[in-house]
Amino acid sequence: MNSVFFRGRRLRSTPTLRALVRETPAVTASDLIMPYFVVETEDTTLCKEIGAMPGQYQLSLQSLKEKVGAAVATGLQAVILFGIPAKKDPIASEAYNPNGIVQMAVRMLKAEFPQLFVITDVCLCEYTSHGHCGMLQPTGEVHNDSTLELLAKTALSHARAGADMVAPSDMMDGRVAAIRAALDEGGYINTPIMSYAVKYASAFYGPFREAAESAPACGDRKAYQMDPANAREAMREAQADIEEGADCLIVKPAGPYQDIIRQVYDNFDLPVCAYQVSGEYSMIKAAGINGWINEEAVIMESLVGIKRAGAKLIITYFTEELLAKGLVRP
Ligand code: PBG
Repeated sequence: MNSVFFRGRRLRSTPTLRALVRETPAVTASDLIMPYFVVETEDTTLCKEIGAMPGQYQLSLQSLKEKVGAAVATGLQAVILFGIPAKKDPIASEAYNPNGIVQMAVRMLKAEFPQLFVITDVCLCEYTSHGHCGMLQPTGEVHNDSTLELLAKTALSHARAGADMVAPSDMMDGRVAAIRAALDEGGYINTPIMSYAVKYASAFYGPFREAAESAPACGDRKAYQMDPANAREAMREAQADIEEGADCLIVKPAGPYQDIIRQVYDNFDLPVCAYQVSGEYSMIKAAGINGWINEEAVIMESLVGIKRAGAKLIITYFTEELLAKGLVRP
């Protein structure tokens, strides 16, 4: 019989042939960025598992050094740091303290592991007593323009501590321009900005807020983070950040927003980073722990999907585990 239909199975018949025709390159260690939560604490051995994120920890500086050391030995290339200060106040003083927890962690990591690429998350929510990402007004509104100054100071203090790249995640308008100006004036013209250009007001951040102790005390972040229903607005956000001087663009969350990753990739020529956020991690972990899914296979499929959508860099809490198990090549 002469087939008149498409025989897609022809190219799927052997592992070798499937590999020959595979479109998306395998995820490698050089695609992955591991997030770490570092706590300002006197308990030098602190390594406290985050309830909603099995396998992820709040770490003291010392524990961070040990964890990162082990991960570097298995091929870890890049990290992004989140800090949990000992004290919070309305103006996020610890965010831009030259001896704040993130600044200390950056100095320690760059001294111990000079080859490791150290990115810092630039935001105020972990440092404000009210948990919002900027200056809170009595009306309950986060004031945009007075926040910019603090974000710029924070980013500059990270660069001074030795950060290789800064990643503003606050979603204030104009922050990339403010940070670029501060970095340039400070002499850090070569420190890139990877902006969370497209960051949605997502329920998938729930577990992170436990990890970073950064849940807003009142209200939510919908007046600054994006509406999950909007795609065209994402292009406007990306365009604005590029005009202000962003070097890389983050789309966040990743899995539920693969269409946005693809559109950012198609419309702009900057490297695209996707953040597979805490809730995405927790869901896969929970199902894995319960034996409901093949966890390793689901992790790999989730990442190839993000890469296929157009992301080159991926921030994922699975980084350490994938490297330790040899599931990604160096
Ligand atoms: C800080 C920040 C958040 C995340 C990254 N940076 C939390 C938020 O916006 O509420 C979320 C990351 C994750 O869920 O893994 N603004």
